[in-house]
Amino acid sequence: MANISISEEDENIILQVRSLGFRTPDAAKYRVLRLALAKSLRIETPPESGLDTIEKKGRDYDLEVVTGFGKSENEKGFHDFDDAVRALLSVYHQEDLFASDQEYKKLLQRHIRRGLREIRTSWNAGHNFINWLREELFQGLTSDNAQLAVATETDLLLDALAEISVHAAIRDIKQGIRLDRYALYLANINHLDNLKKGLSKLSFRLGLPENAITLSGNKEAGVVNLDIPRSPEHWKTVAPARLNEWADLPHPEKLPVWLGQTVLGENFNMDLAEAPHVLLAGATGSGKTVCLHSLICSLLKTQSQEKLQFALIDPKGTELNAYAKLPNLFGGFVAKSTLEAANMLDELVETMEARNRLFVEMGVRDIDEASKKSALPRIVVVVEELADLLMQSRELETPLVRLAQKARSTGIHLVLATQRPDAATFSGLLRSNIPVRIALRVQKHTESSIILDQKGAEALLGKGDMLIKLTDQLEPIRVHGAKIGDSEIALAIQKFGR
Ligand SMILES: Nc1ncnc2c1ncn2[C@@H]1O[C@H](COP(=O)(O)OP(=O)(O)OP(=O)(O)O)[C@@H](O)[C@H]1O
Ligand SMILES: [Mg+2]
Repeated sequence: MANISISEEDENIILQVRSLGFRTPDAAKYRVLRLALAKSLRIETPPESGLDTIEKKGRDYDLEVVTGFGKSENEKGFHDFDDAVRALLSVYHQEDLFASDQEYKKLLQRHIRRGLREIRTSWNAGHNFINWLREELFQGLTSDNAQLAVATETDLLLDALAEISVHAAIRDIKQGIRLDRYALYLANINHLDNLKKGLSKLSFRLGLPENAITLSGNKEAGVVNLDIPRSPEHWKTVAPARLNEWADLPHPEKLPVWLGQTVLGENFNMDLAEAPHVLLAGATGSGKTVCLHSLICSLLKTQSQEKLQFALIDPKGTELNAYAKLPNLFGGFVAKSTLEAANMLDELVETMEARNRLFVEMGVRDIDEASKKSALPRIVVVVEELADLLMQSRELETPLVRLAQKARSTGIHLVLATQRPDAATFSGLLRSNIPVRIALRVQKHTESSIILDQKGAEALLGKGDMLIKLTDQLEPIRVHGAKIGDSEIALAIQKFGR
């Protein structure tokens, strides 16, 4: 059968997509031709007949290559779906293209040439081609077609994996909130090392920042999860309204805290009373304050004034102002100056000791037993910037360490946030008594190690993307936070005040 002809300019587009889009210079060109066809078919009006004229002829492509015409079933990558394409075009043009090879070829050529031009005008060579595909070809389509998109992407991924000597079968793909999770089955166990070592090359090949692609555990034998982030314009948002929905559920925990959703969209919550203390660290702008709001608002929405008090220390003086209106703040105000902070920490230590004496008198062991006899509120102590505080006065570490060591049974819990997770800020004694760690994005893997005892936080995506290490878990859990803002805070305060 006759061939599909394209112009020299068309051929250049194919070469460009192959080298800058696929980033595999030897990938088969038919892939680009098929994408061009798909792109053209998304346009409702038929391609112009003017496309039949080719001024500077490029080259011809056999139908065998374009649609797999005449290929046997078993040839890898070369299934014959010529009939399917012919049927598609027949429906599109409302004419029976099985009746005329010539007409079929002519229309197919027009579509491919139009599609190539569309690619040239809408895709910029500097941009990520996979994202372009998602946006241009597959958005708003039914799931069947979305699967087609995935098929193209998986081809690219498998090629890239082959380049780092990893032969994998994709068992499953899940679209998460900010990333896509590929479950890869590795038949050869040695390929796991290749994969671990080759992650930054893989990121490079797929046009992502160096640390962007990460591995996570999968329960199935021989399977590992490859997490590939999407670009921010394709993130789903974790709506702050999720916090409200979650707060309305029943909560068996003593101090339930909602921090966002896991990679695949499950609510993530923990019990601060069980923690019993938390360190929250990350670079500037990584989302610490927003995360603190989520934590505080969870408690405001699920607890009452009789059961809970907040002790707030904000050396920056700007971040926790909204809570100054709370009816039962410990000490009556948000501590800002070093002196106020020092006094508040001393008072907290005194409260802890007074409670311990009271427990002895009452003959009870801890706040849970004491609460059965008399009402004692738990106290959540939030320090908005630990490094600033300790820089102003190193001595403040002493009361903090004492609280971290002994306050648990008296119902006093620390939440310490810091921008600089260095050894000086988060020293030995404080460190060993604060088991729950939340790492937002940091600059260097050494900072991640200080927070989590392992690397990983340097690969986070920022804006509330975090790794949470709970006391009883070895592997941190990745959670995406919600952007809790002024209006949610105001509502939570109102609810608590009632
Ligand atoms: N969960 C989130 N979802 C979307 N955007 C977020 C989220 N968390 C934070 N952001 C964005 O990042 C910005 C910075 O967040 P935030 O103020 O919490 O950072 P920070 O770590 O406290 O920074 P700093 O150390 O400078 O105080 C926010 O204003 C918001 O635009
Ligand atoms: Mg902040």
